[in-house]
Amino acid sequence: MSGPDLRRAAAARAVDLVTDGMRLGIGTGSTANAFIQLLGARVRDGLDVIGVPTSEATRTACEAEGIRLTSLEECPELDLTVDGADELDSQLRLIKGGGGALLREKIVAHASRRMVVIADAAKHVQTLGAFPLPIEVNLFGFGATFKAVQRAVEAAGCSGELALRKASGGQPYVTDGGHAIVDARLQAIHDPETLSAALWAVPGVVEHGLFLGLATAAILAEARGDEAVVTVLGSP
Ligand code: 5RP
Repeated sequence: MSGPDLRRAAAARAVDLVTDGMRLGIGTGSTANAFIQLLGARVRDGLDVIGVPTSEATRTACEAEGIRLTSLEECPELDLTVDGADELDSQLRLIKGGGGALLREKIVAHASRRMVVIADAAKHVQTLGAFPLPIEVNLFGFGATFKAVQRAVEAAGCSGELALRKASGGQPYVTDGGHAIVDARLQAIHDPETLSAALWAVPGVVEHGLFLGLATAAILAEARGDEAVVTVLGSP
């Protein structure tokens, strides 16, 4: 049972939640891509939905599958967002943004009545923070913002290394919104709410990857022998 099989099993359960006429938020990443492929097959079979993509990559993937797209300007309220996560805990608090789409992902999730996370069960942790927390930062005044973020992280009781994310070519990674990402390697985030508030208080921080109070359910897939077993947390 491989990672792609587990992602597909979680995505398949999420596709079952989609019904005719739904307005969907459509996430970003490899697990969201599995959902997009399965949703595309249902759309070609006649399912009538419309989606708001959370990244340009997701827009391209949805277009390739023939999934009808709209924007939050035309459709400001969504029924359901389905997205992956980098980590989640039992309170459905998430770290997201490993794929750099955290800003649009959070806006879309916030506009949605329900947010269902689909993930490999290995991402379910007791304490968030082993995965580096992405922090999206405006490029103006980057040096000062970087230092202020360092101070905010320490004031929130966390310690660790901060690093500017680089693209594969070695140049700074730039998000769909034209911002940089600072990855905070904190090991453990014992009080995500305090850290979230501390980061939001820094001018220049556009958004951070702690998703608190947004996910309503998580669909987690794990391998048991040759089978993918799916567990659901919360109310999908
Ligand atoms: C992108 C994200 C993704 O949902 C997260 O990185 C998980 O990706 P994957 O499903 O590929 O493991 O937050 O910004």
